[in-house]
Amino acid sequence: MIPFKNTYKDKKVLVTGHTGFKGSWLSLWLDSMGAEVHGISDEIPTIPSHFETAELPGIINHNILDVRDHQAVNKLISEIRPDFIFHLAAQPLVPESYANPLKTFEVNVMGTGSILETIRTADFPCTVVFITSDKCYDNVEWTYGYRETDALGGKDPYSGSKGAAELIIKSYFHSFFVGQTDRLRMGIGRAGNVIGGADWAADRIVPDCIRSWSKGEVVQIRSPHATRPWQHVLEPLSGYLILGQRLHAELTGEPVLGPSVHGEAYNFGPDAVQNVTVGELIESMRVHWEGVRWDDVSESNNAGHEAGLLKLCCDKALHGLHWKACLNYDQMVKFTVDWYRDFYANSGESTLELSRKQIQEYMEAALASELSWISE
Ligand SMILES: NC(=O)c1ccc[n+]([C@@H]2O[C@H](COP(=O)([O-])OP(=O)(O)OC[C@H]3O[C@@H](n4cnc5c(N)ncnc54)[C@H](O)[C@@H]3O)[C@@H](O)[C@H]2O)c1
Repeated sequence: MIPFKNTYKDKKVLVTGHTGFKGSWLSLWLDSMGAEVHGISDEIPTIPSHFETAELPGIINHNILDVRDHQAVNKLISEIRPDFIFHLAAQPLVPESYANPLKTFEVNVMGTGSILETIRTADFPCTVVFITSDKCYDNVEWTYGYRETDALGGKDPYSGSKGAAELIIKSYFHSFFVGQTDRLRMGIGRAGNVIGGADWAADRIVPDCIRSWSKGEVVQIRSPHATRPWQHVLEPLSGYLILGQRLHAELTGEPVLGPSVHGEAYNFGPDAVQNVTVGELIESMRVHWEGVRWDDVSESNNAGHEAGLLKLCCDKALHGLHWKACLNYDQMVKFTVDWYRDFYANSGESTLELSRKQIQEYMEAALASELSWISE
């Protein structure tokens, strides 16, 4: 199989946030495509962690750094001279953003600024994909999907910090990067709620369920009626990788169809049918993990404001990048629960083969669906 026209083979790729949920899957996928992967993260954020169980410390170049430390980030990136940067490092949790709003803004906005400033002054060609969030939109609880041209905003500190990250990216783009197209190409990926095996973050629905169910406990659910655009972790990652591939093609002068994607933002979300409630998602997970239970504790929900309805319109990614989600709802849930079942069946030992197998199965599903980013 040839994914992304082999763009990443033998390339140096820097992933910030490589010790986290999405970053560890992205690092593993890039490694499997023959990239030389470098990571920057401030810590290994969870126990267990996919970064460790997938044996990434022995596979990729692992650096512990705070993205807010611009001098250190600049020094390291200048040494690596990466062909690609995927910037995922962030404080990504809404409840934590209420507990530590200033830190959330510092990491998510100034951490992004630190990467922007580094690439502004870099003397090597580079393609950069910034990962923000569907929560960057000013969410007015519309029933239809947000488009890339809709207003940015964010009522809670996490959402506001992602909206603000978009503004700093936009400002750097218009001030410094518009004319630097022979040295630099950049774009933005906005994805919705991501699920999948190997997420161990606190206060997220799937890890909360899995942690409780693995101990035989009843899981307590705070917002069972909230609707989210659920998608498997490999779906937005395929979008970020297509965006990186397309930007790189422009940078290197390969012939591309359609207008430039330099400086553009793209939504990467599931089909509308996957916009189900938290309660419905848990019921679907229960099909694959029998005998487990959950309680609705929404009455005692003291958490701060969190959007009840959030949908994305992904027409721009479909038409501009030929990206669309690959897995249907049932496949997404099965991929997710299967990963955790195997993890516990193997007593939490190495998940390298398990995770590689799921990446392979995902690519086979994409090939069977004739998605444009993969060929035989
Ligand atoms: N998981 C989702 O549902 C989701 C949805 C939309 C957007 N996102 C975005 O995707 C990205 C990755 O999210 P995730 O779910 O993998 O989160 P995660 O918490 O699993 O990983 C976050 C990563 O960022 C690193 N990090 C945090 N603060 C840092 C700092 N100051 N310096 C360096 N590294 C730092 C952590 O060490 C970790 O590697 C984030 O930008 C997040 O906002 C996630």
